[in-house]
Amino acid sequence: MERTAIGHTGAVGVSEANLHTSSSGLEARIAAVNAIGLVFSRGSFLESALDQFSDGISEPRDRAFAHALAATALRHKGQIEQVLEAFVERPLGKTAGRTKDILLCGAAQLLFLATEPHAAINTSLHLADLDPATKRHKGLINAILRRVSDNRDAILKDLPPAITSLPSWLQRKLRADLGPQQAEACAEALLTRASLDLSLKDDSFRQPLEEAGGASLPTGTARFLAPYPAVSSLPGYDRGGWWVQDAAAALPARMLGDVRGKTVLDMCAAPGGKTLQLAAAGASVTALDVSESRLELVHQNLARTGLSAASIAADVMDFQPADKFDAILLDAPCSATGTIRRHPELPWLRHADDITQLVRLQRNLLRKAASLLNPGGVLVYAVCSLLAEEGSKQVQAFLNENRNFQRSPDPLTDMGLTPEFLTKKGDLRTLPHFSLGSHAGMDGFYAACLVQVAD
Ligand SMILES: C[S@@+](CC[C@H](N)C(=O)[O-])C[C@H]1O[C@@H](n2cnc3c(N)ncnc32)[C@H](O)[C@@H]1O
Repeated sequence: MERTAIGHTGAVGVSEANLHTSSSGLEARIAAVNAIGLVFSRGSFLESALDQFSDGISEPRDRAFAHALAATALRHKGQIEQVLEAFVERPLGKTAGRTKDILLCGAAQLLFLATEPHAAINTSLHLADLDPATKRHKGLINAILRRVSDNRDAILKDLPPAITSLPSWLQRKLRADLGPQQAEACAEALLTRASLDLSLKDDSFRQPLEEAGGASLPTGTARFLAPYPAVSSLPGYDRGGWWVQDAAAALPARMLGDVRGKTVLDMCAAPGGKTLQLAAAGASVTALDVSESRLELVHQNLARTGLSAASIAADVMDFQPADKFDAILLDAPCSATGTIRRHPELPWLRHADDITQLVRLQRNLLRKAASLLNPGGVLVYAVCSLLAEEGSKQVQAFLNENRNFQRSPDPLTDMGLTPEFLTKKGDLRTLPHFSLGSHAGMDGFYAACLVQVAD
């Protein structure tokens, strides 16, 4: 398929609102529409889908616009579809080509990206021209987008709830797990762009980062709000003084307490953010991951930061170490629903059945972790998930089954966190709308610190 073609095989962003495209910005829009097509038709991750269609886009601002447009369309998908429904007399059939994706991106520009109406509409019509099946619907695309544009203020004033932007399976689970109010607040936060958060190797890098505009959060993370500078332009990059890690993702490794001189197994380690934290804290770390290619990222991160850890490419379930460990961090594979701000395609790639399989895998990994711990050892189980079945319920099932484990009485000591972060049972829970100091927003995580006691 030609780079500029929009075809049926799935191959055609902003408060990101300040982003502008060069000249017509058509290439960027083609890339965005093609990328979301691949997300929906093939379950591709957004970054890799955009990579496939961005070759011909030379201007960095056009690449940024393509990303922002696709991300905004995915974030607001459910809301936009409800808005469009009011203007479409008959549902679009399978023969409508790329009409739906073009309308989604057109409406995303008109409603959320502050694109000039004529630019959003004219480019959408150009995109329709590129595919014969879609070309037939140009009149419809034109009429609908004009009505969206003419009614913009009223539409925005009366937007459907944020949670309805998510697929229904996830809406159901979030409402059941968080309650309606918390679920809506969480969904609102999922519509926003995440900040750039850095974990520091040591405190000597803090001041230069603050001078570059970074804020220091109470937990120690350095935060740059969007639109943030290029990562490689920030002070300390060349010397490996920090690594990119969401503020919430930096918390579970710290729940292991003082790890200096202890043997710590990072059971699902790649790409290595938590391995780096543990190594920087003075632990003797073994980083294990089933994926060799992802483990290579751990090696690169260790080399860049000058930190050291042993690494093993293996399936945890087959891992038979000579010695057990003083502490274990199990950052388990999960739905990653806590990271939707960064990966807005995720809700559309997963289904309720996937969660059932993940829960089974997590249960087996937890059992295995328990068997690899020295007597009296500490185990932190963490997931970047918003779902109780992967978090609180998983931990409770483990404790019910393993009477020789208890929750640590105070897992969040000295971490700069308010009680809001602790569940009634004493586990850590972060949600995307939570704040650290005056700064809102973080990934959703659930983590429990479990101590092995005598049988
Ligand atoms: C949530 S990610 C870990 C993120 C990492 N802890 C960090 O902070 O950068 C989960 C990882 O688990 C790994 N994984 C999944 N199943 C595994 C298994 N059976 N054994 C070992 N690693 C596994 C995946 O390859 C993936 O890299």
